[in-house]
Order: sequence, then structure tokens, then C-alpha cells
Amino acid sequence: MQNCTDNTIQSITIIRPDDWHVHVRDGAMLQHVLPHTARQFGRAIIMPNLKPPVTTTAQALAYRERIVAALLSAIDKDGVSKFQPLMTLYLTDNMSPDEIHRAKESGLIHAVKFYPAGATTNSDAGVTALRRCYPVLEAMQEVGMPLLVHGEVTDPAIDIFDREAVFIEKVMQPLRRDMPELKVVFEHITTKDAAQYVTEADGRIAATITAHHLLYNRNEIFKGGMRPHYYCLPVLKREEHRQALIVAATSGNERFFLGTDSAPHDKNLKEHACACAGCYTALHAMELYAEAFDQAGALDKLEAFASFNGPKFYDLPRNVGTITMRRENWIVPVELPFNAGVIVPLNGGAGMNWKLL
Ligand code: NCD
Ligand code: ZN
Repeated sequence: MQNCTDNTIQSITIIRPDDWHVHVRDGAMLQHVLPHTARQFGRAIIMPNLKPPVTTTAQALAYRERIVAALLSAIDKDGVSKFQPLMTLYLTDNMSPDEIHRAKESGLIHAVKFYPAGATTNSDAGVTALRRCYPVLEAMQEVGMPLLVHGEVTDPAIDIFDREAVFIEKVMQPLRRDMPELKVVFEHITTKDAAQYVTEADGRIAATITAHHLLYNRNEIFKGGMRPHYYCLPVLKREEHRQALIVAATSGNERFFLGTDSAPHDKNLKEHACACAGCYTALHAMELYAEAFDQAGALDKLEAFASFNGPKFYDLPRNVGTITMRRENWIVPVELPFNAGVIVPLNGGAGMNWKLL
């Protein structure tokens, strides 16, 4: 795609954005990564794929307490204290509809995540057949709780690059036919098929898009050798798909909003014979998105994508306050060491053109 950067724009100020899909983990890793997300965003949808997964309201509220405690210990790093974690439950074959009512009543749980069993990191407890979950989905439909979908089939016979497109036909369309009032977020879409589906489908559907799927195509994983820090799920796709995501994200269509899918793993597990899936982008998320929108000549569309469309879909108010980014060159750190390990941020060692003030 042609680079449409408008160099006359030197800074951009937008309402404080939210991250509608992030993994902050637990324990020492949580302490280390949470301040990065809290510095950039007002709120974030916290993914529940811990080990064991967060499947009950009680577990989600306990997890929230650990997040709040981690925030308190990081206070004074600006903005950090005002950050709000929006909790989710992990859907399993055995969840009961009562759990949805408990979650709704808590006022702190905002969605339920559907991982097809075996689709990605820590998804072994995921759903084996969505039909088993219909009573739960009916309860969600009734109380207006969104279902967040990891949209990939897990059939090993299906090519990994086709799993999202096949999912639309095999799972998404039947699900939405059977539950027409259910709010659905197609998480971290990676294909033109998904962008087209979300654009054209009837009913209450939206999609999150990561910064890395806007910036890179699958060549990035193999440039000069195997580069595991560019390996995530759903995996990066061909250039034509990246371009379709750019068009969707910059279109002004309210159905598309920001979800980083920042997914930290220890360096040892990424630089490994069987590397874990996940890109760490919480450190520099808004700068990465600014780069993608700038290249598309669409910086004026970033605020709606990052700060307006998500809260509207989730029936939440926009954040108060703003963030400002300036056109400024800086180098992403190669490693982020902490007491329990090392995280390698996406693009470590490379130059960035935007800096969050
Ligand atoms: C995520 C993780 O590591 O938890 N990995 C990833 O590649 N995105 C899981 C997920 O969201 O699929
Ligand atoms: Zn994720």
C-alpha cells in the first residue's frame, strides 16, 4: 500500500482510548505489564485465559482485585491510578446460565469469551461444541452481555491461514442465525473475509483489530529467518488481507474498534522450538496504531476507532481526559527485563515515528 503520511501533522490529541482486548496475565507478569496498558488506556477488556481459566464471577472478581492491587502499587506513574479493568468470563461447555446473571449483577463483568477448544494459548478448557452453550448464550442475549469470539476453527485438516474464513461459515453464521439478538465481537480479525462479514452482517456485531495486523503481513514472520515475536494467533495473513483491515479500521464504520491483543510471554517461551503465540504491544500500542493510521493518511479516523466506537458498542460512556502523541523518533527497547523474566516487545530495536506524551 502506498504510504500517505501527511508530515504536516506533528501532533495528535484524542479522547483517552480503551483497549477492548488485552492479556495482562497474573502474578509477577501482571505487575510488570499492567502499568503499560494503564498508561495508554482508560479501560481495557481483560482476557480470562489464565491457567486455570477465569470461569466464574467469583474468580473474575478475585482477579479484578489482584489487578487493582497491582495498579495501586504502580500509582504515581501518570494516569495509572484511573485505569479501570473490565472483566470477562471464559466460556466452557459446563457454564450455567446462573453464572451469567451473577456476572451481570456484579456490574464489573462486561463480556464472555468464547475460545474454541485448542484454538490458542490456554484454550484447552474452551468450548467443544457451541450448541452445548446455548442456554448460556440465551441468558447473555437476555441480559445484553456480549460474546467475544476467537474466530478460528480448530480442525487440523483446515489450513491455518484459512481457519478464520472457514469459521465464519461453519460457526459464526449458524450462531448468529440461532441467537439473532446476541451482541457479538469478532475478536482480532485478520482477513478481508471477516472485515466484509462484519461490515455487511445484520444485527449487533462488531470487531476488534490489532495494531500488528494493521502494520504487518505474514512475510514479517519469515523476514531473514524465523521471527517468533511476530507469531500470534490468528496468524498474520497476506498483504491483501492487511489492506482490507486498514480500509475497515479507517472507514469510520462504528463496528470496528481497537483491541491490541497484547499477549506477553516470557522470552524463553517465545524463542523456543515450539514458540508461544502472542505479540507484546501494550508498551507502545497507541504509537503502533498511530503509525498504521498515519501510513494510510487517516490520522483523523484514529479517535473514533480508539476512543468512541468501543464504548458505544459496550454501552459505556466515553472516557474523560485526552492523550497526546507527537511525531518524534524513538527506539523500542529490545527487551523489558523484570524480576521473573524478560518480555520482548514487538518491533524491539526498531524506530517509531510517534511518541505518547
Ligand atoms: C493469546 C495469548 O497468548 O493469550 N495469544 C495470541 O497469539 N493472541 C491468546 C489469543 O488471544 O489467541
Ligand atoms: Zn487475545
